[in-house]
Amino acid sequence: MHAWPARRHGRASAAVILLGTLMASSARAASLAVPPQGKRALLAWLKAGTYQTTFTPEPEPHASMSAHGPYVRTWYSPMLTEDLRAGRIPFRKGAAMVKELYLRGPDEPPVGYSVMRKLRSRSRLTGRGWLFYETFDGTNDAVSFGRGLAVCTGCHRTGVDYLRSAFRP
Ligand code: HEC
Repeated sequence: MHAWPARRHGRASAAVILLGTLMASSARAASLAVPPQGKRALLAWLKAGTYQTTFTPEPEPHASMSAHGPYVRTWYSPMLTEDLRAGRIPFRKGAAMVKELYLRGPDEPPVGYSVMRKLRSRSRLTGRGWLFYETFDGTNDAVSFGRGLAVCTGCHRTGVDYLRSAFRP
């Protein structure tokens, strides 16, 4: 008789611990699925190839349409992939893209990266809802970085909520 409540309590707390662990690990997975907001952490995250475990890539590097020089391959975050599949525009906070810049040709490793990350669902006319980042040499020395960055929004504002690529997963 007396053993029951104790056992039930034991099971309940085991379930709570399990749930807690699951929630913590899915929070970790979710935080890995967006590029960090600081440029140092972001560069380290790019170089570690962290996005490759959760992002959806274009099949292979291809000739770039414009400013991003000769060959590129773009990866979409899980949130952006979901939004595109659902036809949801504007994209939600957490939508993000990583574009690998293959400056030495499609068969050599990427040298640079362009990144966009949505910080708010509202992009605003100036694109302040988006964080932009671009390095052509894989360092932060001459990096383009900031919210609603004019050098980026000039072209990107003509896209679908600032997305220019025609790739649809
Ligand atoms: C001259 C126009 C132009 C400028 C300037 C420009 N982009 Fe792009 N960008 C494009 C086009 C066109 C694409 C899609 C086609 C391609 O991949 O070449 C693209 C693609 C991207 C992508 C992949 C996601 C997407 O929207 O398709 C990212 C990320 C990106 N650009 C980041 C940036 C950043 C960061 C800057 C500013 C430092 C920037 N771009 C400046 C034209 C531009």
